[in-house]
Amino acid sequence: MKKITLSPSQHFIDLLDIDATTLRALLDEARAIKQARKAGRKHAMLKDKKLAMIFEKHSTRTRVSFEAGMLELGGHALNLTSNDLQLGRGESIADTARVLSRYVNGIMMRANDHNSLLELAHYAEVPVINGLTDRCHPCQVMADLLTFEEQRGNIRGATVVWIGDGNNVCNSWISAAIRFGFHLRIACPPALMPGSAYLEAATREKAGVTVIESPQDAVQDADAVITDTWVSMGTETSETRKHMLRPYQVDDALMAKAGKDALFFHCLPAHRGEEVTAGVIDGPASVVWDEAENRLHAQKSILLWCMRG
Ligand code: CP
Ligand code: NVA
Repeated sequence: MKKITLSPSQHFIDLLDIDATTLRALLDEARAIKQARKAGRKHAMLKDKKLAMIFEKHSTRTRVSFEAGMLELGGHALNLTSNDLQLGRGESIADTARVLSRYVNGIMMRANDHNSLLELAHYAEVPVINGLTDRCHPCQVMADLLTFEEQRGNIRGATVVWIGDGNNVCNSWISAAIRFGFHLRIACPPALMPGSAYLEAATREKAGVTVIESPQDAVQDADAVITDTWVSMGTETSETRKHMLRPYQVDDALMAKAGKDALFFHCLPAHRGEEVTAGVIDGPASVVWDEAENRLHAQKSILLWCMRG
């Protein structure tokens, strides 16, 4: 497997922090790691390394794929919820970061507030990985890119369409469009636009990112159609919100307007009958189970980049 050049303490916090060449190398290494695993080749490149995982929110895929990934790389993962830690009783993030850095080789955190993750990274002496914040979900989108490329080849120049809430996952798709050079159309209600910093970065970098209101217009000639929950963790559920998002449900009629080979993506967990119909997510265009599996492979590549010393 190709070795990526490392600098001593690299965090994986936001795709926008990382240059295009490195992200491409991470994706290529993820594919190689997946092939090695399928061929039954051992790849214990993080032997005896330890990853602390701090969860302030629920998780199935992130928690299990990081833990399984660390085990398969020969290391170990510690599953910590903020409530179990003294963090839940008011110990500062800074002190938590300093202490954990003396025990482990890396920290993955799923945080309510992106600023908590930034603070952790500021005080940590080991690499910090973003396992989702209110602002972005970079590990998810690396897995999604791997999934797209397995099905359709290099994503450069492809047309990817985001439908629904302009949320944390959408922000990471914008970052990916900037770094990987594909077109991203976002169809969302005007009140639920993606983060302005991401849209500004797209404009600054002259990336092919456009925001429009109509999902039917957005999906024309799409190579991929993506959606996500209407109510992200930490967001208040309200009828107004659901009412705003109802026209953005991905159903068979919308998929029929997309290119006939358009793939359907969803990071999961899904809410059938809300953001997507069962017909679409359980239908032939859906690649959601590959996306979920690819969290494992994409994150192993990220773990190696961060922690292989
Ligand atoms: N997609 C994703 O991050 O899933 P979990 O919330 O289950 O980790
Ligand atoms: N946007 C969703 C993603 C869950 C993996 C959330 O933040 O809850």
